[in-house]
Amino acid sequence: MTRHFLSLMDLAPAELAAVLARAIELKAMLRRGEVYEPLRNKILAMIFDKSSTRTRVSFEAGMTQLGGNCMFLSPRDTQLGRGEPLEDTARVLSRMVDVIVIRTHEHAKIETFARHSRVPVINALTDMYHPCQLLADIQTFIEHRGAIRDCTAAWVGDGNNVCHSWMNAARQFGFTLRLATPKGYEPDAALLTACAAHVQPVASPAEAVRAADVVVTDTWASMGQEDEKAQRLKDFAGYRVDAPLMKLAHKDALFMHCLPAYRGMEVDAAVIDGPQSVVWDEAENRLHAQKALLEFLLVTR
Ligand code: CP
Ligand code: NVA
Repeated sequence: MTRHFLSLMDLAPAELAAVLARAIELKAMLRRGEVYEPLRNKILAMIFDKSSTRTRVSFEAGMTQLGGNCMFLSPRDTQLGRGEPLEDTARVLSRMVDVIVIRTHEHAKIETFARHSRVPVINALTDMYHPCQLLADIQTFIEHRGAIRDCTAAWVGDGNNVCHSWMNAARQFGFTLRLATPKGYEPDAALLTACAAHVQPVASPAEAVRAADVVVTDTWASMGQEDEKAQRLKDFAGYRVDAPLMKLAHKDALFMHCLPAYRGMEVDAAVIDGPQSVVWDEAENRLHAQKALLEFLLVTR
């Protein structure tokens, strides 16, 4: 059966752990200059309905390093943009390429695509989830602090796609996630219920962050929410991760952000550019974690 990676729940906890251990190995191999090309003659197609810097570049660079090839398909230049059904596009592309990476709006779209694809489909961000980001984030935590099991993470800000993937990570990796989101910006209610054993909504950023091992935030206005920006600026007052808030966390707490970041909005420069921030490692680890994921989907299993 074709395996997809549409959310962190598509891999078992042991498989996720193996992918991350492998990501750390692949990173060391790359640093040593070892050439490792198990994906020679394999082709990855990417469909992006939204902008991207990290995700696109990390998949292209990673696939190339693994010996494979990549093609970037803009909806503007393909028949998708002219209304060819997703199902038909999935059927056609998956007869030609070996793996498909998609960034789009509705999560249902990527699910539909995957149902009609013969080859693995990887979620490169939907309005609901950003699972590749969490592979990199958990890898980053492990590299800096060791196992994340039984640790406490604090999410401060919008209950968005990245937040939803942190919620799934909490149950898959066995840590506690405290959530501080403004009224009206809570995460998906059904997901909250499903994650109840590991995810605790709290009343304020201070409560979320107290003694936490890692503090995480993201933009207050995700792609597609540009029109709401002014309103959101008002509604998120008090939710900025600044130095006084970080002080409440564990003294060795890490600061994470998937990027792109908006300094002076969701995070102060003193925090994101400060000593506790590991945001550049997170960004780099997109490359290593996704290479491990590609190897898992195309070679290992
Ligand atoms: N974090 C992340 O996915 O960044 P891009 O939007 O640049 O891909
Ligand atoms: N929440 C952000 C993440 C970008 C990587 C967005 O969806 O725009």
